[in-house]
Amino acid sequence: MRTVYLNGDYLPEDEAKVSVFDRGFLMADGVYEVTSVLGGKLIDFDGHLVRLRRSLSELDMQEPAAMGDLLEIHRELVARNEIDEGLIYLQVTRGNPGDRDFHYPPEGTAPTLVVFTQAKPGLAASPLAQRGARVISVPDMRWGRRDIKTVQLLYPSMAKMMAQKAGADDAWLVQDGLVTEGTSNNAYIVKDGRIITRALSNDILHGITRAAVLRFAREAQMEIEERSFTLDEAKDADEAFFTSASGFVTPVVEIDGCKLSGGTPGAVATRLREIYIDESLKRAT
Ligand code: PDD
Repeated sequence: MRTVYLNGDYLPEDEAKVSVFDRGFLMADGVYEVTSVLGGKLIDFDGHLVRLRRSLSELDMQEPAAMGDLLEIHRELVARNEIDEGLIYLQVTRGNPGDRDFHYPPEGTAPTLVVFTQAKPGLAASPLAQRGARVISVPDMRWGRRDIKTVQLLYPSMAKMMAQKAGADDAWLVQDGLVTEGTSNNAYIVKDGRIITRALSNDILHGITRAAVLRFAREAQMEIEERSFTLDEAKDADEAFFTSASGFVTPVVEIDGCKLSGGTPGAVATRLREIYIDESLKRAT
């Protein structure tokens, strides 16, 4: 049985309980982070911590008392649950005001902090990355602050189910004819050797993997264009891929049934995945 962290305690997972009045449960009033673990070490922990601070601050949410101990908590959970490859999920909610009310809870209501591990053997040698993902496009019907990593994930869940029903691996979200991002990842295309990905704004999550991959790509003298691209451009691209803490760099080989790079992972995506994993392992904590 897993050991999970809840508000200061390490508990067996079936003993970790949160109130029915918790704002996360009633209002989706919470933010989260997902950090990957490779070789028992944390990938880009500092980046996730910076983004967590930003999400909390954008929502005027109090930082949990254990904010300064998050690295230690992550490491402790990795050790206790013997995680070699996997993910660490962290969630902070606005806590339990003891009743339901649209207004934020009174000052001094303690935030809820939950952290748990997910063992994912084979995360680095992912079969999906080797085969390449098939995606469908769906309208982006999420709210307008996608730069905040909130736990309001119903629409992304619906989109994943639409993809599953269509026999695809994931969905890319489209707004005004332009791809915003994937349901749980940032989206890229490659055309004439240039890597094209949407610029940062409130329309997309500012991916921690995105920042690292673009840095490594620049260091490898690859050309990058941070701009929006249309769905038609994507279907006509030489290759495509997505990035996230759970998928690293995953090649995309099909968009709405149109095959890219001959239906097999493209050279740029494959190289970027190798670079990302190598470089991240060197910097892992
Ligand atoms: N998802 N865009 C969205 C909408 C996401 O949910 C995510 C991450 C990303 C990529 O961000 P990062 O590189 O920091 O993981 C982009 C996580 C993995 C999840 O919800 O499980």
